[in-house]
Amino acid sequence: MNALQNKNIVLGVCGGIAAYKSPDLVRRLAEAGANVQVVMTGHAREFVSPLTFQAVSGRAARDTLFDEAAEAAMGHIELARWADLILIAPATANTIARITHGLADDLLTTLCLATRAPLAVAPAMNQVMWSNPATQANIALLSQRGVSVLGPGCGDQACGETGAGRMLEPLVLREQVAALLDDTAQSLAGKSVLITAGPTREAIDPVRYISNHSSGKMGFAIAAAAAKAGARVTLIAGPTTIAPPAGCQVVAVESAAQMHQAVMEQAAQHAVFISVAAVADFRLKEVREQKMKKSADEITLTLIKNPDILADVAALQNGRPFCVGFAAETHDLENYAADKLARKNLDMICANLVQSGGDSVFNSDDNALEIFLRDGGRISLPSASKTRIAHTLVDLIAERLG
Ligand code: C5P
Repeated sequence: MNALQNKNIVLGVCGGIAAYKSPDLVRRLAEAGANVQVVMTGHAREFVSPLTFQAVSGRAARDTLFDEAAEAAMGHIELARWADLILIAPATANTIARITHGLADDLLTTLCLATRAPLAVAPAMNQVMWSNPATQANIALLSQRGVSVLGPGCGDQACGETGAGRMLEPLVLREQVAALLDDTAQSLAGKSVLITAGPTREAIDPVRYISNHSSGKMGFAIAAAAAKAGARVTLIAGPTTIAPPAGCQVVAVESAAQMHQAVMEQAAQHAVFISVAAVADFRLKEVREQKMKKSADEITLTLIKNPDILADVAALQNGRPFCVGFAAETHDLENYAADKLARKNLDMICANLVQSGGDSVFNSDDNALEIFLRDGGRISLPSASKTRIAHTLVDLIAERLG
C-alpha cells in the first residue's frame, strides 16, 4: 500500500449509480496516503453532491472546464501534469466511449487527453451495455493503448439484472491502483514468460461444446503482473469475457488441442511457463458436422483424453522453461498437489480449494493459494485480490529463477 503514499490521483466520477461508492473510494485512497482531486462529469452531480467529495478529499470537486476560480488556482493543464494517475470510477459506457475516441468535451475527458500519467478505468454499467460490441471494442482499444481496465465485477446490478458490469469495491480498487503505482524493481526484466489462461471449449457439434467455469481472471492477473515486472509475456487464452491485460502478446484459442499446439510452438523460447488454464481433460472422439437432433431420450458421447499441455512442456529435453502449474481441488489439497508436482515434473504448483458451485475461485476477484515447491518448500498466500496474489506469485517465481 506504500505505493500510494503521496501519490496524486485524479479521480474521475461519472454519472452512474455506482458513484455512491466513489466517496468511500476517496477515503480509502486518502487513508493510504494519496492526494485525491475529484473531477466529476456533469451527470455525476445527479448521483452525488460535490460537497460530499469536498468533505472526504479536502479539495473542492471540479466539474467544469470553464471555472475561473478553479482555473486560477490550478489550470486544467497543470492538473493533468499534477496527476500521477487518473482513475475513472465509475467509468460509464458513455465516458469510456468519449475517451476511446479522444473527445475533450468536458474537464475529465480533456484531462485524459492532456495527461502523460497512466489512466485506469473501473467500468460500471448495466450488463447488456457492458457486453455490447461497441463497449467491448472501446475497452479492447483502450487496453491496447495501455489503459488499465479494472473490473468490472459480476453479480446483482442496481437495475435488477445479474451479470458483468458492477464497479469493483473501493478496497479492491485501492489494491489494484496501488499495484499500478508500485514502481519497485522489475523482478522479471529481460525474461520471457508464457502463460495459459481461461477455459477451453471442446466442440460436440457446430452449436454445442463442453467447457468449465474458468473466468481467466487469475491467468490474466498473472500476465499483467509479469508484464509489470518487466517480462515479455505471451498469453495463450481460451474463450473469456474479460479484457486481456495491456502489454502482453495475446493468442486466442478455443480447444485444448489448439492451446497445446500454440504452447508447444513457443514454450522452448520462454524462461517460464505458467499453466493457469483450466484445460478440458477430454474432448469428443468425433465432433459431429451437423447439429445433433434430440430425437433419442438418451445419448452417449464418447470422450478421449486431451494431451496434458503442462506435462508435455515440463518434459521438454531442450529449452525446458521453469514450469508452474495450478491445481483446483475440492478436497485433499495437499496430497493431490504434491502428486501433480511430482507426476508432471513441475518446479512449483499453486493449489486452491474449490468450494461447491465453483464460483469461489473461478469467478471471484479474490483467491488464496497454497504453493508447493519442487524442493519440498511450502508457501501460503492468504486470501487477497487476484491482482495482489499475482504480484506475490510473480515475485516468488523471479526469486527462484535467480
Ligand atoms: O491434472 P490437472 O488437470 O488437475 O492439472 C492441472 C494443471 O495442469 C494446471 O496447471 C493446468 O493448466 C494443467 N493442464 C494442462 N493440460 C491438461 C490438463 C491440465 O496443461 N490437459
